[in-house]
Amino acid sequence: MDIVNRLSPRQFRTYDDLLAFISIYDDRQRLREYRRLLRRHQHRIRGSVCMEAGCGLGILSEELLRLGARRVYAVERNRLLYRLAQRRLGNHRRVHLLCADVREFVPPEPIDVLVHDFYGMMLYDEELWVLEELPFRPSLVLPDSGFLMAGLTESRLVCDRTVTPEVFHAFAGVLVSGLLDAEHLQGRWIVAQWRFGEGLRLTPPNLCGEAGDVLFFYLSVRHGEEEICRAGQCSNWAYVSTPRRPLPPRLSAPGQLRHGGHLSLDISPRKACYRLECRRRNRAMKKPSVPCREGSRRHSGRWGRIHGS
Ligand SMILES: C[S@@+](CC[C@H](N)C(=O)[O-])C[C@H]1O[C@@H](n2cnc3c(N)ncnc32)[C@H](O)[C@@H]1O
Repeated sequence: MDIVNRLSPRQFRTYDDLLAFISIYDDRQRLREYRRLLRRHQHRIRGSVCMEAGCGLGILSEELLRLGARRVYAVERNRLLYRLAQRRLGNHRRVHLLCADVREFVPPEPIDVLVHDFYGMMLYDEELWVLEELPFRPSLVLPDSGFLMAGLTESRLVCDRTVTPEVFHAFAGVLVSGLLDAEHLQGRWIVAQWRFGEGLRLTPPNLCGEAGDVLFFYLSVRHGEEEICRAGQCSNWAYVSTPRRPLPPRLSAPGQLRHGGHLSLDISPRKACYRLECRRRNRAMKKPSVPCREGSRRHSGRWGRIHGS
């Protein structure tokens, strides 16, 4: 889905976000897994004060009510989504629905449980960082963590008749979501980890000497030690891939390989990208992607390198 008429930048952003975020509801698996997670924490939710940060249509707020929350603060910054949520939640006396940025809302009482889905395809490239800037401290955040996994494979195994290995390699230096048929593949490396309260930790692997001309990434949404849902199984998040230059057969010293071109994985709030190119998250492939902004004030000091890629 695309917006094809001319709008002011502000209007465009509002409608563009609406398009991106309504498309997540096509993903029934994500909702099922989130509901399951909430049910497992019913003992914490019943009789307590909850918040859905970025409530979208308010479906998880309804679930919190069903599970016995004493009060639910449903906070949504997009005014169109807020109005849609109003239809769903407006008649519930236990719900306080607010059109606000969750970073600017100070609840009048302690929040026991906060629910969110701020995960981007590259983990931290959507809104997870917002949770580090809350003006209050919830006792429990659901889910509370996530991984960005990475792996290598051969293009001949994941390309098709249209996206041939030659076509795929034309995207050198670009991260592309949903291009390859790679969603059955397991990653080998945890490239980045986020946990509520601890922020983001990058753990880029050394890929020198590893085979494969396709470097792929995918999101794993986690709570505690457990995976709640992941890209591929949930259509809402796609695998992201990029071509890796074939390794020269005799060069194995990292210094030499580096000369063959290494990419830097760059994950900072509001963007996650290779140094060479970046794209903003494109939920469910229905939203036009735009190049992410350079020079964010949060950008400095939070990047890691994947050598030999
Ligand atoms: C991926 S949707 C999740 C919607 C809903 N929580 C669910 O899981 O079904 C993320 C929502 O958060 C909203 N959002 C993003 N950043 C926000 C912020 N800083 N404050 C309030 N809402 C925000 C977006 O507009 C969007 O509706």
